[in-house]
Amino acid sequence: MLGMRGLIPDSFIDELLARVDIVDVIERRVPLKKAGREWTACCPFHNERSPSFYVSPAKQFFHCFGCGVHGSAIKFLMDYDRLEFPDAVEELAQTVGLKVPREGGREAAPREDKTDLYALLDAAASWYEAELPRNADAQAYCKKRGLDAETIQRFRLGWAPAGYDGVIKSLGNSPRRMELLNEAGMVASSERGSKYDRFRERLMFPILDRRGRVIAFGGRVLSSEQSPKYLNSPETPLFHKGRELFALWQVKQANANLQRIVVVEGYMDVIALHQAGLPIAVATLGTATTPEHTEVLFRAAPDVVFCFDGDRAGRAAAWKALESALPRLRDGRQAYFLFLPDGEDPDSLVRKEGKDGFEQRIKQAMPLSDYFFNELSHDVEMGSLDGRARLAERARPLIAKLPDGAFRDLMAQELEKRSGARAMLQADPVAQPAGQRPVAVQRSLVRSAISLLLAQPGLADQVEKPYRFLRLDKPGVELLAELLDIARSRPGINSAMLVEHFAERPEYPSLQKLMAALSVGELETQSMEFLSALDRMEHQSLIQRRNFLSARRDKLSDDEKAELRTLLPLREQMSTKS
Ligand code: UTP
Ligand code: MN
Repeated sequence: MLGMRGLIPDSFIDELLARVDIVDVIERRVPLKKAGREWTACCPFHNERSPSFYVSPAKQFFHCFGCGVHGSAIKFLMDYDRLEFPDAVEELAQTVGLKVPREGGREAAPREDKTDLYALLDAAASWYEAELPRNADAQAYCKKRGLDAETIQRFRLGWAPAGYDGVIKSLGNSPRRMELLNEAGMVASSERGSKYDRFRERLMFPILDRRGRVIAFGGRVLSSEQSPKYLNSPETPLFHKGRELFALWQVKQANANLQRIVVVEGYMDVIALHQAGLPIAVATLGTATTPEHTEVLFRAAPDVVFCFDGDRAGRAAAWKALESALPRLRDGRQAYFLFLPDGEDPDSLVRKEGKDGFEQRIKQAMPLSDYFFNELSHDVEMGSLDGRARLAERARPLIAKLPDGAFRDLMAQELEKRSGARAMLQADPVAQPAGQRPVAVQRSLVRSAISLLLAQPGLADQVEKPYRFLRLDKPGVELLAELLDIARSRPGINSAMLVEHFAERPEYPSLQKLMAALSVGELETQSMEFLSALDRMEHQSLIQRRNFLSARRDKLSDDEKAELRTLLPLREQMSTKS
């Protein structure tokens, strides 16, 4: 699995979380006081006078009842030391003397780090840079696009000349270097297996990582007849499109303290904005905005402005960006949406309207809440009860994705106001003071089975395969089965490790929340509750089946009739609680 977790194997994350003690990790940064089975402090992530920040050694989990932050030791380091996932893992691994293994790269190659890969890509960028002044067409094109010398230098723009082996000849002059060129995505192979330069006759845009190192390239053709217009490096050990942002490094260089960052669609848009005096623009690399992008953006600045074309494609892309932003919008973070007039992009606009004009547009960008409700209600009849119900139906699951906090409450209130319906978000157990948390039976069976399993992963040992509850047609059933599989295959796994398996999945925030909500109780009691929840789920699945069969009573096969007869005596009442 690529992405935020880089190429670190899950099994290693398990081992790491088993070795470190979250209490140690946090104690070294925030003084903790013992409080019963847990440890507590004033929350380091928001201002408070009385402690609502708890660390649970049993769950290896921290949670703040005030601002809602929570997670494993890895998550704590990410938030507290402002580290990216792989760096947080690296840091933790060091404290317990583990070495982080990486998947993907052939383990046989005795390469300890990626230094030579970085060096090679840097050399390639320099080589393209040196080629630029030597090609008249490329020069003319830069001039036509209004790029000045300083900008060309700041972005290290270059030229990939015609011919099939310019890069190979200059940089691939040993088998080892050819191997590196290949690994870095700089060469392509013909059907017969011969290698040639991937980038030819293209204006080259180096893509830098957060530390300013070249990790990939985008290359633009000069004439509109050729395609693709932009060619990007493939995914490589250094380059994962889903998490890199073009020009983030330049943005960080230009701003010590950034309040606002603007996400646009294209390389040229970014460059034009920087050149115009707005060095706050980044772009995704020809992909939709991912949740990882959103996290990186919010780590860079508290206000994120998503800028899109006003056309249909732009609107669709904006909605995706909104969805990826929702789970990351904790208090203090704000997202805005800026739609441009038809036929314009930031590059064309900033040239027409100048820095001030574009800045004005940024300032007038639509807050996420407005965009959210406009978009959800634009095709429903708000005058009718039906229409308002439809709005509520669409909005609820999305609002539920927001982290706990004032913003989520406001959105829920706004929905209530607009739809006239009680917002009825899933009652959030976390919001209630510790000690009077609701008992598990108030929640659905599936939900309570999942939280019990999260509190006591060892319970999985008591469940036999095949899981008979799987026939139940209810949300969460498959997730429960998956959690059971993981817990069964890793005896001794703790709650935090179990949840970390879902770090890249949409279920992650809700799992974290469920886990935070349930305290580790008596094993005996929880075990009974858990097994009884599974039994009742199975029972419900049989009732579902019976209802299904009896609704089609006259069309049943003989086998189905026989099955229905065995199901008829089932009593309904066991299932009424869910
Ligand atoms: P645009 O075509 O809108 O880019 O694509 P642009 O920056 O305005 O291009 P110019 O002004 O014509 O030079 C937006 C982004 O989508 C990706 C690139 O990242 C581009 O910057 N893209 C586009 C590709 O990856 N491949 C393509 O063929 C086209
Ligand atoms: Mn453009």
